[in-house]
Amino acid sequence: MASAPSPSGVVSSGAWAQRPSGVPAAVPPPGIPLAFLGASGLGLVAMGVAWVLTAGAASRDLTADPVVAAVHLGVLATLATGVLGAMHQFVPVITARPIRSVRTAATSLIVWVVGAWALPLGIGTGSPATTAVGGAALGVAVALVTWNLAPSLRVRGKGSSVTALRWSLAGAIATTLVGVAFVGDRRAAWFPLSGHVDLAMGVVGMFAWLGTAYIGVAAKLWPMFMLAHLERPDRAGATAVWAMPIGAIVLATGLAIRRDLVAEVGALVLAVAIVAHLRSLVAHVAHRRRARDLHLVYVLTSAGLLVAGSLLGAAGTIAVRMRVDAGPGLVAAAMVAFGGWLLVALVGHAHKVVPFIGWSLLRARGVRTGPSGRPLAFADLIDARWAALGYGQVTAGVVALASGLATRSVGLLVTAGALLAASGVTVTLNLVVHPWRVARSAPAADVP
Ligand code: HEM
Repeated sequence: MASAPSPSGVVSSGAWAQRPSGVPAAVPPPGIPLAFLGASGLGLVAMGVAWVLTAGAASRDLTADPVVAAVHLGVLATLATGVLGAMHQFVPVITARPIRSVRTAATSLIVWVVGAWALPLGIGTGSPATTAVGGAALGVAVALVTWNLAPSLRVRGKGSSVTALRWSLAGAIATTLVGVAFVGDRRAAWFPLSGHVDLAMGVVGMFAWLGTAYIGVAAKLWPMFMLAHLERPDRAGATAVWAMPIGAIVLATGLAIRRDLVAEVGALVLAVAIVAHLRSLVAHVAHRRRARDLHLVYVLTSAGLLVAGSLLGAAGTIAVRMRVDAGPGLVAAAMVAFGGWLLVALVGHAHKVVPFIGWSLLRARGVRTGPSGRPLAFADLIDARWAALGYGQVTAGVVALASGLATRSVGLLVTAGALLAASGVTVTLNLVVHPWRVARSAPAADVP
């Protein structure tokens, strides 16, 4: 890999030397984000299959090991893998500083994927050795990612997106450290692992890590994809960037030490973050100059799931405190809705970002025209009908999963798993097949 100078003058091996003109200098080679996103698509298929297989167990016991396995195929093999791919693309672009090393990025991808699959497979099949390999691999992968991305994130004066990405990296480290401790605890029983403690890790992972990454990246992507330029600085977005991780940490602490007041303060701060994030979205939608498209539908659906998760979380907390049987199911449904907020956003943005990266890659290889003979366009790299189908499948899958856990319905859980697996196939194929066809059918003169 050829070296590229960073703005600070430091020669770096982390940038894409062959990028076509117009692509930011610090951008990594396309294979890095694309491989993370492809692995995330496979994770979505695996998560769907896992929910089909664990539907019976989940209807009886929400904390059964096969359920924990399905949860982690969702949060690690799907969501976190996609978010890590996004971070490898956007940290260098937003900070204008390349990652430290492409080779390390490729290694972290492999080690991460091994961990994100081995941990759930170990838990689901009752193999402590596989679980331990998974936990260790995830720990190593997060250390590599931190080494690779942290120098870029030291940049100053690049706004609240960088703050969000710093928080998100800290959230990834914290969640993984807690997760590794859980893995050890399952063998050595160092501390009591109650549902509250499990939920505390879920809150930090979902909001401080994954959610904060999304709100940080969205602050850059929404203006671009919606053609929305706010007249005033986005104060609501900046508030969300701080309130979300802080609220998550305080809520998780309250849950872990079982202090209701601390948990309530944390939940309140988290609610402020959610309202601020939604206000920022409303401002972007109101100022948009692009006509309604599927990206907007994805983003609004994702926001709807965030609202649904908040309402289900509040209802679940009240029901648990009143010792109503439905309480744990409502809390589980809330976590699914929050996961759905991020999953639908991830899939929706992938439909914009992947064709964008694919376009750069094809241009760098000399492809100038699409199948129609006209200049290569993003629309050549994706099929709109497949995209709409994927939207329907993933949204229905999330709604069915939340409803299935709330009502402990095996039928709904099986349906949810099938829909989520199908969405993984539809979305991944749509984003892979069309660029591949364009590359294959490009006129020979186009390709050097
Ligand atoms: C975004 C990141 C994460 C989220 C949202 C999350 C969420 C959760 C949730 C909700 C549970 C309870 C599941 C249930 O009882 O049905 C759980 C348990 C568990 N998690 Fe995670 N997790 C994350 C990352 C990790 C990581 C990185 C590891 C390992 C390195 C890990 C290891 C575990 C283990 C071992 C358990 C089972 C604990 C027990 O035996 O009760 N998790 N997690």
